[in-house]
Amino acid sequence: MGSTQAQLYSEIDKSLSWSERELPERERTKHVHRLHPYLGKFVPQLVEALLTRYVPRGGRVLDPFAGSGTTLVQALESGYDAVGVDIAAFNTLLISVKTRAHDLAVLDADMHDLGARLGCSTEAPTGFARDWFAPQAAAELLHFRSLIPEYSSKDVLRVVLARAARSARLTTHFDLDFPRTPQVGAYWCHKHRRTCRPVQTANRFLSRYLIDTAARIRRFAELRDTRRAAVVLHGDARELELGGRYDGIVTSPPYPGLIDYHEQHRYAYELLGLDDRRERELGAAVRGTSKAAIAEYVVGIAAVLARGQAALRRGAPVCIVVNDRRDLYPEILERAGLQLDERLERHVNRRTGRRAGEYFESILICRRAHHQPS
Ligand SMILES: C[S@@+](CC[C@H](N)C(=O)[O-])C[C@H]1O[C@@H](n2cnc3c(N)ncnc32)[C@H](O)[C@@H]1O
Repeated sequence: MGSTQAQLYSEIDKSLSWSERELPERERTKHVHRLHPYLGKFVPQLVEALLTRYVPRGGRVLDPFAGSGTTLVQALESGYDAVGVDIAAFNTLLISVKTRAHDLAVLDADMHDLGARLGCSTEAPTGFARDWFAPQAAAELLHFRSLIPEYSSKDVLRVVLARAARSARLTTHFDLDFPRTPQVGAYWCHKHRRTCRPVQTANRFLSRYLIDTAARIRRFAELRDTRRAAVVLHGDARELELGGRYDGIVTSPPYPGLIDYHEQHRYAYELLGLDDRRERELGAAVRGTSKAAIAEYVVGIAAVLARGQAALRRGAPVCIVVNDRRDLYPEILERAGLQLDERLERHVNRRTGRRAGEYFESILICRRAHHQPS
């Protein structure tokens, strides 16, 4: 017999579980957290609570699987220095745009100037741009891209271009995350329960996102602790030099066989010419969940955590947010030389998306084990 809701909730850390009313979407995606969609991130309020509980204020935090940069952004807001590593170039671009100390006057001037120059390229689109956008949308995106080198705020503009490209792709409304083939004509939309048509233009997205991005960066600039800084490293966390001592790790590793982190932003890699290192991505969905794939995943995650714990100050915590339904973490922690001090359970509010059912995740609070694996 399954547990009753009361039993389930008695085991949950309620201060880390929020209902939609307590923590509405606009708070979960406040300021720079919404510069670009990203599937598989945790909420900044969870990072905030973990930092407050486990890491001395003013300390230095590491996230070796930094993703869209939630840990780094929240660290700056809460008064910590932070370092993040990610294998996916688009993620590190996004994090650096979120966490950099921008010159707001230059940023505003660039956004305003470029906003007045939106137009159409005469360049014939090829490859991805030709296949995944209506001709008008492709011409508008390529025109925008051609202007980026003229501005100081290049990286911000690259993120704006990627976000508009995502919105302007030839996709159905119900499959924005991983569309397999372009949707060229009208289609029956399960989401809106009517016939819908794919988007034909991009300039309205570019115009809206230029304004929204500048406003979000400005809002974050008012909140962040200006004495603190974030560093973003692009590479494989199994190999990169992590540099220096840390006062804590807050991270959510990829799950095996669930999400392809490069593929979810394919349009950005194609349009921006980013370095694609998907063959180094741990847990990638394309690798599946065979016994061999899981074994490789366990060794890989453990290697990252082992390097992370070796870079920690004595007694500093490793906070791992995970849904370990395959029960892989006992072995991962042992291989990484970590011991579990506390296991917190939280209820995850998944109001958005089409996923049904209750969802829980654990937060493993670990510390360096007395006996290290040889
Ligand atoms: C679950 S996501 C992290 C999400 C993050 N907590 C956030 O809120 O945005 C896991 C991340 O691990 C990254 N990753 C996978 N393999 C990696 C590797 N070998 N080295 C560094 N990062 C890796 C993926 O690119 C992905 O962004």
